[in-house]
Amino acid sequence: MTAPRLTVRAALPGDGAAVFQWRNDPLTRAMSWQPEAVTQANHDIWFTNVLGSPRRHMMIAEMTAPAPVNDKRVGVLRFDSTIEPQDFLPASDNPAALSHQVSINLNPVWRGQGLGQNLLLTGCRAFRGHGHGGWLWAEIRRQNAASIKIFTAAGFACLATDDDVLRFGRAD
Ligand SMILES: CC(C)(COP(=O)(O)OP(=O)(O)OC[C@H]1O[C@@H](n2cnc3c(N)ncnc32)[C@H](O)[C@@H]1OP(=O)(O)O)[C@@H](O)C(=O)NCCC(=O)NCCS
Repeated sequence: MTAPRLTVRAALPGDGAAVFQWRNDPLTRAMSWQPEAVTQANHDIWFTNVLGSPRRHMMIAEMTAPAPVNDKRVGVLRFDSTIEPQDFLPASDNPAALSHQVSINLNPVWRGQGLGQNLLLTGCRAFRGHGHGGWLWAEIRRQNAASIKIFTAAGFACLATDDDVLRFGRAD
């Protein structure tokens, strides 16, 4: 069988409906820090703000092979860049250094096939390819075994743990 191949591109206004639908999927909500459903109105404001923010980079991963029958959008990644120091990351000598929080959400129809790791690796490579240095990090709920597995496999290390949260980072 041909290994699935993904590409990523910047999210576009036309992706709002899919990102909204994936966000309100039950598993996504259960693994989120805000498990209540998001309203369409709040999503629309948030989505427009994300697309317009120079500190937030949202990407859509698409499957190029094998050719999908329906929606080729496999999922979404977001890199939220911040200058605020994170206490679980080593302090930087550069006061202007940014770190980047990574979030991923797989289109529910593509889950359970190992595509999450491909999505994460492809997205991180593309983000670095755009010249963004600094730590990549993620906050993952302890119960989110699939996410912990794919971040670890993608080179992230667990840097800190709290009750329900594991903080992962990758410095490359
Ligand atoms: C997290 C997410 C991206 C994982 O994507 P996925 O590709 O469907 O993940 P899979 O189901 O293929 O599981 C990935 C790995 O974890 C393992 N895994 C899945 N559930 C597991 C569980 N409950 N216990 C142990 N291992 C588990 C799988 O066996 C697989 O391992 P393998 O690579 O060795 O085969 C996807 O479930 C998702 O979008 N979840 C909702 C949003 C979310 O949680 N985002 C992350 C927040 S940081």
